[in-house]
Amino acid sequence: MNLIDIIKNHDKNVFDKWELYINVYEDIFSRYKELPINILEIGSQNGGFLDIMAKYFKNAKNIIGIEINEKFKDVEFEDNRIKTVVGDSEDISTKDKVLELAEGEKFNIIIDDASHVSSNIIKNFLMYFPLLKENGIYIIEDLHTSYWKEFEGGIYEKYSSINFLKALVDIINYEHWRINKLRGFVLRYFYEKLNTIIDEFELAKIKSITFFNSLAIIEKDIESNNVIGKHIVRGNYSKVDENTNPYRLNNTFIHDIVMTPGEYAKSVFELEEEIDMLRDRLNQEQNKVRELQDRLNQEENKVKELQDRLNQTENELVMVYLSKSWRLTRPIRKLKRFIRRFI
Ligand SMILES: C[S@@+](CC[C@H](N)C(=O)[O-])C[C@H]1O[C@@H](n2cnc3c(N)ncnc32)[C@H](O)[C@@H]1O
Repeated sequence: MNLIDIIKNHDKNVFDKWELYINVYEDIFSRYKELPINILEIGSQNGGFLDIMAKYFKNAKNIIGIEINEKFKDVEFEDNRIKTVVGDSEDISTKDKVLELAEGEKFNIIIDDASHVSSNIIKNFLMYFPLLKENGIYIIEDLHTSYWKEFEGGIYEKYSSINFLKALVDIINYEHWRINKLRGFVLRYFYEKLNTIIDEFELAKIKSITFFNSLAIIEKDIESNNVIGKHIVRGNYSKVDENTNPYRLNNTFIHDIVMTPGEYAKSVFELEEEIDMLRDRLNQEQNKVRELQDRLNQEENKVKELQDRLNQTENELVMVYLSKSWRLTRPIRKLKRFIRRFI
């Protein structure tokens, strides 16, 4: 049965997906349909999509779901290949439990349908992409939230999940950068902000990234399958451009013809370094402003304290002037002043 028919007939645990995803999955899942694969879903909720996948992938070995909601432990599944972990996807202990359930095997399909918050999507990718097999696919759903503030998004939000995924496009084209940096260079702001990192060798395994409306699919493969390879030029006639002469270009690798950094790349990276420097200076200046503000607050508190004490003393003085003893001793004070005039 195909995926759409399975979904039409589904009457067990509830699942929740947009129509477009199902059409895309019908296409990309078909290549794994008969294989003994492992699947991981991050964010399983009522568990309905685990049911669906168990019905579709008849030969799958393990279909594992992670869910942060405690009630997930009460969800019942008929298929014993479905295994569950109740926990936060970001916890190492959750990842360890997943690995234990998969008996140390990696996954062919990983779907992130969890919180849809940018930092969680990115952390999940950095944490679980290394658990994906070569030839596997990593799917991220509901990326429309990447444009919404309440999910740490926004169209120009530097740390949004979509911005992170856009950086993966540069990583796929790493071979052509013409600068002396590692792939992780384009992720450095995310590494800093989220205080986490992914192995450079894992980044080299990103074969492709496909964007659909609200959905991204990242394909993994061994590094040698991801390079551009030989320049293939065949044929006998080159009337438009003689430079395409097969005998000159045939079998060159891109590395052979690339020698110097392109001016454009150079200037962009120089600008980025300048932006980094300016950002550091801005941070330093902001810290100074905060320090001065603290000192100003302290001084203002001192002034307030002195003002209170002055008010208190003035009140005490008024009380003295109004007191009976002050009035009774007035003639003595007058006499004292009179005597002082003659001595
Ligand atoms: C959109 S629902 C999942 C729907 C489900 N995949 C389906 O197809 O029916 C998102 C689920 O992710 C869970 N979730 C949110 N943050 C999580 C986290 N950090 N770790 C694990 N699960 C999380 C939520 O509790 C919620 O049940």
